[in-house]
Amino acid sequence: MCGIVGYIGYNQATPVLLNGLARLEYRGYDSAGIAIFNDDKIKVAKSEGKLANLKNKIENSDVSGFVGIGHTRWATHGEPNERNCHPHTSENGKFVVVHNGIIENYDVIKRQLREKGVKFTSDTDTEVVPQLLAYYYDGDLLKTVSKVVNELAGSYALGIICEDYPDKIIAARKSSPLIVAKGEGENFIASDISAILDYTKTYITLDDGDIAELKADSITLYDKELNEKETDFIVTDLDVSAVMKNGYDHFMLKEMNEQPEKLRGLYNDYVKDNKVVVPELDKIADVLDNCEKIYAVACGSAYHTSIAGKYVIEKLCRVNVETDIASEFRYRDPILNERTPVIIISQSGETADSIAALRMAKEQGAPVIGIVNVVGSTIYRESDCVLYTKAGPEIAVATTKGYATQLMMFYLFALYFAQSKGTVSEEEIAKYCSELEMLPAKIERLLSDTKTIEAFSEKYKGANNFFFIGRNTDYAAAMEASLKVKEISYINSDAYASGELKHGTIALIDKGTPVISFCANKKLFDKAWSNAEEVVARGADVVCVVSEKDEDKIQQGYEKIVLEDVIDEFSTMLEVVAMQIFAYYIAKNNGCDIDKPKNLAKSVTVE
Ligand code: G6P
Repeated sequence: MCGIVGYIGYNQATPVLLNGLARLEYRGYDSAGIAIFNDDKIKVAKSEGKLANLKNKIENSDVSGFVGIGHTRWATHGEPNERNCHPHTSENGKFVVVHNGIIENYDVIKRQLREKGVKFTSDTDTEVVPQLLAYYYDGDLLKTVSKVVNELAGSYALGIICEDYPDKIIAARKSSPLIVAKGEGENFIASDISAILDYTKTYITLDDGDIAELKADSITLYDKELNEKETDFIVTDLDVSAVMKNGYDHFMLKEMNEQPEKLRGLYNDYVKDNKVVVPELDKIADVLDNCEKIYAVACGSAYHTSIAGKYVIEKLCRVNVETDIASEFRYRDPILNERTPVIIISQSGETADSIAALRMAKEQGAPVIGIVNVVGSTIYRESDCVLYTKAGPEIAVATTKGYATQLMMFYLFALYFAQSKGTVSEEEIAKYCSELEMLPAKIERLLSDTKTIEAFSEKYKGANNFFFIGRNTDYAAAMEASLKVKEISYINSDAYASGELKHGTIALIDKGTPVISFCANKKLFDKAWSNAEEVVARGADVVCVVSEKDEDKIQQGYEKIVLEDVIDEFSTMLEVVAMQIFAYYIAKNNGCDIDKPKNLAKSVTVE
């Protein structure tokens, strides 16, 4: 969602801001803007649509200076037009603000300020911030910011500049991601480190309630009450190449191809001598020993990994797993206690609903295990135990390596837990480990020869509707496959548990309806096959996704995508990679904006 970047130093701010905003494009946006100190006056430039529009506008004006803030907006309050685009300015022109999050009490503040005669120019919730700053301002910038943020309900990451202080940027954060970063004679604010990796690797993630004051040569951190805090900078090992395409046409393709290496990394970190060794989980051994039930809660694709994880954990560990979508879980009053650990899965670690689910679980005494990809993110910091997925920055909105590493973490978790519970013998654990070890090479081979799948993508690029069907681990794959196709190619699709088809959905199957039938789980092949036949009998065009071991069971005349054999429990992984390829080429054939699909945001930081 919205992206923030700010620069203060001895170089021109505009190129740094534009470069930073370009790096943040992946978060999803519909307009962009910057504000720069120019001869002690703040100049603002904004534009609807892509960054290129903003760049064109700036080329024709003289926006230059050494201090500035920039923003990419993903509209929540008010249409995505120039009027609502950030930065927003107070009526007297003194304060200019960029914001990510939602000010929940904006209407009350707006009404009160209007009664005092303040005129608003946008439909946004954000505009109340500069207006309130101007209203309370008594010459003390920090105190005014502190007073204002204490009045705001909801979530905010704020970058603030004030005409009276051309040597300062103020940053503040509550429940929306924001970092401050240190360079040589220059400092930055950003939604995440990927925005400024070209300039620095040293940063701090602000805590909720923190306020930071940045000058070119210093960063001072304060808590809510303006008590000065220690600045514990961390240095990321990420390289700027991690946020570049490196020769690939799209980030999505690059990230798909990074999957084998990332999975190998996790395998090597956690499997030693055919045993799964996870020191992070050793620390919560008591919780696992005594657990009654596990909840696995997330959004989007991360939620789909929990479905695949559930099948494996229940089978291997004989413990109940209940999965839920975070936005549902947080409002349904689930039964939680210290014996019901909650696994929160999140690539970004900043998804608003997942954070709310985490906090609710903790409030009710449930221990939280985070499966997270971003160090220092909210879910990373607030979980009782973190399983770090080490996928590196994921730029394409549609997750691929993020999904694969989360799924791998579920497999490792299940094996670790089964080992400690003794529900699976040592020999079987060794067998599962060897299956896990072989997975990356199988994915590599799948990604290196995509012709068959590409041909299906070409054949079906004009489809209006897809059905993805499967049972058990195959159903988990169907859910993720359906989402992949929807999000990047905008073709409607649905995932169904194959056995449920007859209870209504089969009425939608007509001649030529494309149905992708997942049958890589060998134990359930016969069942899956008979469901495929049922839809064929009604005219569907079926493509079976099948293990090489069952390939011959597919009757002549049926289309198929044949996968290398994998033990049933882990078959979702290969099926999903095959469908990432399928979705990617459909979107490519249809000329879609693969890395930045319309209306979507990478990191959904509002409810
Ligand atoms: C967005 C992304 C999805 C992702 C979901 C959850 O919808 O486009 O790819 O699965 O958010 O994000 P998280 O960062 O919590 O995994």
